[in-house]
Amino acid sequence: MEKRRIILVPFPAQGHVTPFIQLGQALSLKGFSTTVVQGGSNQVSHIPGFQFLTIPETLPLSQLKTLGPVEFLMKLNKTSEASFKDCISQLLLQHDNDIACIIYDELMYFSEAAAKKFKLPSVIFSTVSATSRVCGSVLSKLNAEKFLIDMEDHEVQDKVVDDLHPLTYKDLPTSGMGPLDRYLELCREIFNRGTASGVILNTASCLESSSLSWLQQELGIPVYLLGPLHITASTNSSLLEEDISCIEWLNKQKSRSVIYISLGSKAHMEAKEVMEMAWGLCHSNQPFLWVISESLPEEVSKIVSEKGYIVKWAPQDHVLGHPAVGGFWSHCGWNSTLESIVEGVPMICRPFGDEQKLNAKYIESVWRTGIRLEGEVERGQVKRMVKRLIMDDEGADMRDRSIGFREKLKASVRVEGSSYNALDELVKFLETS
Ligand code: UDX
Repeated sequence: MEKRRIILVPFPAQGHVTPFIQLGQALSLKGFSTTVVQGGSNQVSHIPGFQFLTIPETLPLSQLKTLGPVEFLMKLNKTSEASFKDCISQLLLQHDNDIACIIYDELMYFSEAAAKKFKLPSVIFSTVSATSRVCGSVLSKLNAEKFLIDMEDHEVQDKVVDDLHPLTYKDLPTSGMGPLDRYLELCREIFNRGTASGVILNTASCLESSSLSWLQQELGIPVYLLGPLHITASTNSSLLEEDISCIEWLNKQKSRSVIYISLGSKAHMEAKEVMEMAWGLCHSNQPFLWVISESLPEEVSKIVSEKGYIVKWAPQDHVLGHPAVGGFWSHCGWNSTLESIVEGVPMICRPFGDEQKLNAKYIESVWRTGIRLEGEVERGQVKRMVKRLIMDDEGADMRDRSIGFREKLKASVRVEGSSYNALDELVKFLETS
């Protein structure tokens, strides 16, 4: 008999594709077949045993910059709906009645229409933190008019938002999203859907217990906490080629001496900021490994190459697990955040967009495993931040707290741990759906 098949629909960006492939791998190990349906140009296609399909009519990721995130997502969902239905009808012909479920990224909410049409169960995978999901749900329900007035008031920026303690207005993922009313409309599109049978999250209760209780109460459908998925099912799903030469360079560095810098797949820095970072890092007297796609002016590049090592894309999981790494300067994407905590590496937080400020808030103020670099980047400040993280007792304390979480997270994915049991619950649902 053919194995039951799971259809995965990730959003086509690294931070979303990675946890989806990990989830697919975890479910393959439990005996399911996996089809990944992707759109756009950012596609992964090399995972053994997986079937990969392309949605023919969708919106290329290149339009994200032109349209901005909100309009891009609205248009992507409109454009892809009919084409995705065709994909599913083809799959049903191929695989008879053995499709167990469509698991879709909350940003790919067009998937729901196909699930309804073909009477297939659907589950949402929210690849960000539980707190971010709560934030989206709260924003989708609040009085939009009042919120718009609140957000324009500068004095309100440091106030805690009702229902979202300890998040303040300025931590919300609203900046860089364009007009607020359209952003709230998108939140309603994404978060006010009632037909999915469950929500999967890549997190664990030791990190976000109050957000999780909130979600479990509010959503009224099962919430499967499977994180951190990269421990359960580590697979290389990199969309870019990793430069593994940096591992040889790390092998030559002293234990916990290196600061690793990676600002994720989407962040783009101004030339001035890059220069200040470069000088600050060079003056910090600590070796550094810097993932940077922007090119540095020749004279800076020469000095930087004497003090540190530069790559365009690193094997991040290996880097963070390397004994030479003492700190991680990150944009605080959710995957990077989890990977850092799981390796017990303290962080310098420099969030850019999306929900990264919210993750930074948790890292700095709730888990206390990192410090946030605020305001303009300036070389003296960079030097001081690196010292605090790598040399000072403060950094050692952050590392100890991070290691504490690491042990709890590892326990959660071991036999009878909470994430292990949640995966079994999900499997039971998929087997009987
Ligand atoms: C996006 C959003 O920007 C982020 O806010 C959200 O939380 C997740 O989706 P992204 O910017 O890609 O994420 O960052 P992140 O979630 O940290 O994922 C990046 C992934 O790429 C990580 O798994 C990391 O290990 C990997 N990576 C990054 C590499 O393998 N090599 C690198 O050099 C840099």
